[in-house]
Amino acid sequence: MSSRFSSREISDFCLYLNREYGLSFPPARYSFVENRVEPILKAFDCLTLADIAGKARKDLKLRIELLNCLTTNETWFFRHPEHFKILREHILPALLENMRESGDNRLRIWSAGCSIGAELYSILFTILEAIPDVQKLNIQLTGSDISSDAIERARAGIYAANELKLLSEKMLVKFFSKHSHNSWQVLPEYRRYCSFELLNLLASWPARSYDIIFCRNTMIYFDESNKDKIARRFFKVLEPGGYYLTSANEMLKAGAQQDFTQIFVENEIVYRKVQQTNELKLVRFKTPTDLLRALNLLKNNGFFFQLEKIPQEHNLAPRRAIYLRKRESAKVEELFALNSIKITSSRLIVK
Ligand SMILES: C[S@@+](CC[C@H](N)C(=O)[O-])C[C@H]1O[C@@H](n2cnc3c(N)ncnc32)[C@H](O)[C@@H]1O
Repeated sequence: MSSRFSSREISDFCLYLNREYGLSFPPARYSFVENRVEPILKAFDCLTLADIAGKARKDLKLRIELLNCLTTNETWFFRHPEHFKILREHILPALLENMRESGDNRLRIWSAGCSIGAELYSILFTILEAIPDVQKLNIQLTGSDISSDAIERARAGIYAANELKLLSEKMLVKFFSKHSHNSWQVLPEYRRYCSFELLNLLASWPARSYDIIFCRNTMIYFDESNKDKIARRFFKVLEPGGYYLTSANEMLKAGAQQDFTQIFVENEIVYRKVQQTNELKLVRFKTPTDLLRALNLLKNNGFFFQLEKIPQEHNLAPRRAIYLRKRESAKVEELFALNSIKITSSRLIVK
């Protein structure tokens, strides 16, 4: 195909897209880039691709348009259904067990590169169908994408028949209302579980942690070094015991993989941040008597503990705190409460 840009111009532009947004376009996709940016040249009075790059630095509207036109937001409900089976039958039961042990009822899930939200709503419907007493959980579902058009559509939750092709009739009736002759909208009482935000995965992220991260059909936009960086960042923001699900063509290379444990399930590989066995919780007590009574209780019930010297908070405060094993700490703290032993704080430590 003949091009209106020199190969130098287009390759410089693609380098810029990679540097600024992590988007990776090899020479085979140069004509895709040209076709997609054509309307931007006209709409923003740019003569060259370098003009676009120069103006995009200052012009937010142009930047948004550029990202909207270069990203492919194709997605549908229950895309790669195996992942939702794994979520329902393996991941949720394991996380619920952890929650029972730790007493922490939060379930935090991130759909990174969520596009128009079909993935996050599919996760929500899976949870709602799988967990009967779901109201006991504090469910926090977040979807993020670099495309503002996609995020707006996700928030509206309106989908066409082709995006709903893998959804069962039962789920359609339960979770949606008819919007037009060929589209359905997620009911507001289910939309409220999901929050969607604009986020470039290569920029900084809000300080949050997650139990599960879905990042599927999105890493394909990144070159190897950015893929590696993002996977390592996913690892950091996952809770111990948390899961990372990605597409078969986006599996981790050796570098980033060493952080994760690979789990083979239902003929698929999912990644898990395996729970550290040496995770401890430091518990401080209100008075030396509380500390003494706690020690007796721990000894009598055979729980692991370790005494730790701490700076005294005031004259009557204990000079020592106790390390507990994190996985036992919920049970132990319940025991303390039953015996009216007062603690002032407890903090997770990885030793
Ligand atoms: C094909 S969709 C995948 C949607 C969904 N995860 C799925 O598997 O069906 C890829 C999404 O990644 C988003 N994306 C591309 N580069 C991104 C970046 N740097 N930061 C955040 N999202 C990005 C695109 O806007 C697009 O919506």
